[in-house]
Amino acid sequence: MSALSAIVPQGNDREMEFAFSASDHRAIADMIYAESGILLPDSKAKLIYGRLARRLRACGLSDFPTYLAMIEHDPEEKARAVDALTTNHTAFFRENHHFEHFRDELWPAFLQRLAGGGRVRVWSAACSSGEEPYSLMMTIAGQDVRAAEKLANQDFRLLATDLSPSVIATARAGRYPLDTTRAMPASMRQAWCRRVGEQDELHPALRAPIAFRELNLLRGWPMKRPFDVIFCRNVMIYFDEATKARLLSRFADQMVDGGIIYIGHAERVPPEVSARFRCIGRTAFQKVS
Ligand SMILES: C[S@@+](CC[C@H](N)C(=O)[O-])C[C@H]1O[C@@H](n2cnc3c(N)ncnc32)[C@H](O)[C@@H]1O
Repeated sequence: MSALSAIVPQGNDREMEFAFSASDHRAIADMIYAESGILLPDSKAKLIYGRLARRLRACGLSDFPTYLAMIEHDPEEKARAVDALTTNHTAFFRENHHFEHFRDELWPAFLQRLAGGGRVRVWSAACSSGEEPYSLMMTIAGQDVRAAEKLANQDFRLLATDLSPSVIATARAGRYPLDTTRAMPASMRQAWCRRVGEQDELHPALRAPIAFRELNLLRGWPMKRPFDVIFCRNVMIYFDEATKARLLSRFADQMVDGGIIYIGHAERVPPEVSARFRCIGRTAFQKVS
């Protein structure tokens, strides 16, 4: 049985309250690909159904074709559909070797530059709910709140962007469920988290140098000046080869010569753009001038 036929409603099963045909799946997959580059093949039928059934209910609709017709004329609902279809899995200190590489190999020179009045720019592209940029901040500051506070007064900025407005709102708030912050090393959690009800709130000094923004990586980028370092991890796995190559080429254009990009552990630099980067470590690449 295909993934699709498995979720076509039968009887009164609550989880299968809407019919979901192959052409509904195709229309949604085409829409999300055009909007975000995300591929949703047949194997993702259950995921699409589960995430959009909630939107149908919220809109008071009873079938997918009506919902699809609606989002064609309702950009806000379309954005909600795209938001619902993004996969935002992340964690504090995920693929920690990148943060360690940044701290050990790049940060000493950046600190010197900052001390001399220079600028350092880092971009966490597709940052989800913020664990990635906050982990970087914690790694460079250690447990030293003053070190983080000092950064806010120097020309150091960490841009953190994502397509999904809901995760950017979480990131900006800097509050996380206790299950999420338990994944941090105990010393970091003690230094940077303050219990607020059933959540942990991150120290304002960690948040000050970070600018959280909604940004679709496939559309225009408003940033004019180049970045020293880009983290773009675990988003290109959802893209096809042409989109990955285009994106990496744009990243290269948006980086200083010798700038560094970190990608996810399951991601590769496609051959079309490999001449623009030199591998300098595990899923870490340097822009070739
Ligand atoms: C799996 S998360 C990765 C988060 C983090 N970088 C990490 O490695 O833990 C992928 C993120 O990519 C975002 N995303 C997907 N397509 C995007 C696009 N076209 N532009 C910007 N962000 C996108 C999703 O909203 C999601 O939050």
